[in-house]
Formats: sequence, structure tokens, C-alpha cells
Amino acid sequence: MTTKVLFVCLGNICRSPTAEGVFRKLVADAGLSAQFEIDSAGTGSWHVGEAPDKRAQQACRAHGIDISKHRARRVRAADFESFDLILACDEQNLRDLTDMKPQGATAEIRLLMPFAGNPADRVVPDPYYGGPGDFENTVQRACAACAGLLRQLSAK
Ligand code: 4NP
Repeated sequence: MTTKVLFVCLGNICRSPTAEGVFRKLVADAGLSAQFEIDSAGTGSWHVGEAPDKRAQQACRAHGIDISKHRARRVRAADFESFDLILACDEQNLRDLTDMKPQGATAEIRLLMPFAGNPADRVVPDPYYGGPGDFENTVQRACAACAGLLRQLSAK
């Protein structure tokens, strides 16, 4: 049995490809790659087909994570059937996903950050209009949340 996890942000060029890359690495390091299918997507379509933002690529590279091969795509109706867990980076993503979810679709939609276990951290803030520190913060948050996520899913 594989667990299928989809990370979602707005553009699919900064936060969700970062979370995807971080989770992929944690899963690989734990020797669990065969047990997961991992992807990311955006609720918006402005950047479809593009590689991740260079600043996100750089911040990930500093943590030994290569996200350069990802290409942005939009969330599609079939995602709500094919993924077990769809994880939103912020509250707007969560609302948009809830609106997009077809009736009767099986995916569970949750915020990503609560998996880090710190109630003060609800969201991964959008770093798009920020500086390098904001992209590093995105990686840090993704690491905390994805570690908690993997712990929780492995305990099942
Ligand atoms: P992301 O960041 O949702 O983390 O990929 C953004 C990327 C692009 C835009 C906004 C946020 N944009 O407005 O184009």
C-alpha cells in the first residue's frame, strides 16, 4: 500500500515544490520511498509549466535538495480521487481546495503546518515578494512539518 501525498500552494513554484522536495528527501533517507507517492500543485495557473522559482531552488539546494526538475501544474479534479492526503500551505489554499473538491471525492484536505506540532505556526507564509530569508524560512517550516507528517504516517 502506498500513501499518496500532494502539497499545494498558490503558484506551485515556491512553497509546495519546496515541501515536496523536503518530504521526498525525508522519505528517501528513511528508506521508505516505495511506500509513498509525492507530488505538488498550485491552485492558480499563472506559472504552469515553469520550473520552481530560482530563490526556492537555491534555498533547497542549501539543504541538499534539488527541486529544479519540477514543473508547475494546477490542481485538477482527479487529484481529489488519486491522492490520500492534500496538504495546503495556507488558509486561502485550504479554502480554494475545499471549493474545488468534487462531491464524494475521497482525499483528505488539511493544512500542512499543524503537523509540526506548534499551534502558533498555522501556515507557510508566501515568500514570493520576500527575500532570501523568507525562502529559508519556507524550507525550515517545510522541514518541521514534513518530519511530523512522516512520523504520523509511519506510525499508522
Ligand atoms: P507559491 O508562491 O504559492 O509559494 O508558489 C507564489 C508564486 C507566485 C505568485 C504568488 C505566490 N504569483 O502571484 O504569481
